[in-house]
Amino acid sequence: MQDTADEIIRVLIVDDHAETLENIRKLLQFEPDIEVVGAARSGQEALEMARETEPDVVIMDINMPDMDGIAATEAIKRDVRFAQIVILSVQSEADYLRRAMRAGASDFISKPPSGDELISAIRSLAVEAKRAKDEQKILEGTGPLPPLIGRERFGPEGKLIAVYSAKGGVGCTIIATNLAVGLDTADTPAVLVDTALQFGDVAVSLNLQSKNSFVDLATRIDELDVEIVEEVLLQHDSGLRVLAAPPRPEMADEINADQVRKVLEYLKQHFAYVVVDSGSTMDDITLTVLDLADLMVSVATPEIPSIKDARLLFDLLSVLEFPRENTIFVLNKMDRRSGITAAAIAENLKCTVDGEIPFDERTVTTSVNRGIPLLIADKGQPAAKGILEVLGAVKQRLVERTEEGIEEGEVERPRLFSRS
Ligand SMILES: Nc1ncnc2c1ncn2[C@@H]1O[C@H](COP(=O)(O)OP(=O)(O)OP(=O)(O)O)[C@@H](O)[C@H]1O
Ligand SMILES: [Mg+2]
Repeated sequence: MQDTADEIIRVLIVDDHAETLENIRKLLQFEPDIEVVGAARSGQEALEMARETEPDVVIMDINMPDMDGIAATEAIKRDVRFAQIVILSVQSEADYLRRAMRAGASDFISKPPSGDELISAIRSLAVEAKRAKDEQKILEGTGPLPPLIGRERFGPEGKLIAVYSAKGGVGCTIIATNLAVGLDTADTPAVLVDTALQFGDVAVSLNLQSKNSFVDLATRIDELDVEIVEEVLLQHDSGLRVLAAPPRPEMADEINADQVRKVLEYLKQHFAYVVVDSGSTMDDITLTVLDLADLMVSVATPEIPSIKDARLLFDLLSVLEFPRENTIFVLNKMDRRSGITAAAIAENLKCTVDGEIPFDERTVTTSVNRGIPLLIADKGQPAAKGILEVLGAVKQRLVERTEEGIEEGEVERPRLFSRS
């Protein structure tokens, strides 16, 4: 618990019901480290109060008369960047939640909140707010310069998201690239890793030409440090860091699964998100990736062979005891003309479809050829909107899984295969 004056957590409460405001205020009133600095009855008022009071944490209702909680979240994040927003919601608002996460919310709690739940969320978000504040000072030149990548900046271990399909050509690279771009922020730096070691095309699809690759880390595996990693990672114009596959397929032979494990473990210590494009073979390298993955994004297209492979993959994952809840299922290249709907695929595979990306050859090809991910080139295109939906689902699932992990006391799941 924090107890010094400058570690008091400043909280702003936003809800159009006076009664809810009062209840929340009461829940917080006996916490010595929490100070309610304002209570707003509308989105607009929340924005004005946030600018004035610079809260660490904002407790935000969704449905409000003028500016709703999502628009208010977006506006507050723009003006008071370090403020962490926790959405209060009722269960039926899943779609709103997704949009809120996209707007920049960090957490959500169902209504009515319990005191314990709210207080523990506030305390953990305050840690984030402090980190973001320090980072802001650094950017403004008033703080010490941190290493570009460094453990102390990111607190808990980063989340590894593996994008995989047993079938090639379904869009894993495009999805992994865009997810990494979407997750990569100053607060939550991401690294995109290409473990399709033989023919990986992450670097080329981002128009990155350096020869630095996975091999340069694998061959120095026992001496990894920030300088070495920094030197080998490529950087896209967006700021995203990339660990590329080797420039020539035969060089993949120089890399083994144990080295892949060590590199990924190292990156998890230094980045908030490690997004892995895992290629489409199920070998010991992919198993290592899955073993370390917090979430797997499984991709399929609306074609019978791809759906068949998705089914085989789900069967395999269950044999490997990879938790089903850690899988996000995405359909790419959706096209009404194919005659296969998402509902039919969901029914066939007995799973939910967490995101659909439409077929849009011109937009996707232009994006790849220019090396500019869709989320940067044009967020308004239907394909980019589909990817944003997947991004929302990924963030939401990570939050849910983290919360469940905390409740369950972080039970470590069994390793997919043991190290020899
Ligand atoms: N939504 C889409 N609409 C149209 N074309 C797409 C879409 N998504 C991907 N493509 C195209 O499909 C091809 C494969 O995409 P991508 O390289 O991302 O797939 P992959 O699963 O990584 O393939 P590989 O097995 O070769 O690594 C590319 O030519 C890409 O332009
Ligand atoms: Mg690929």
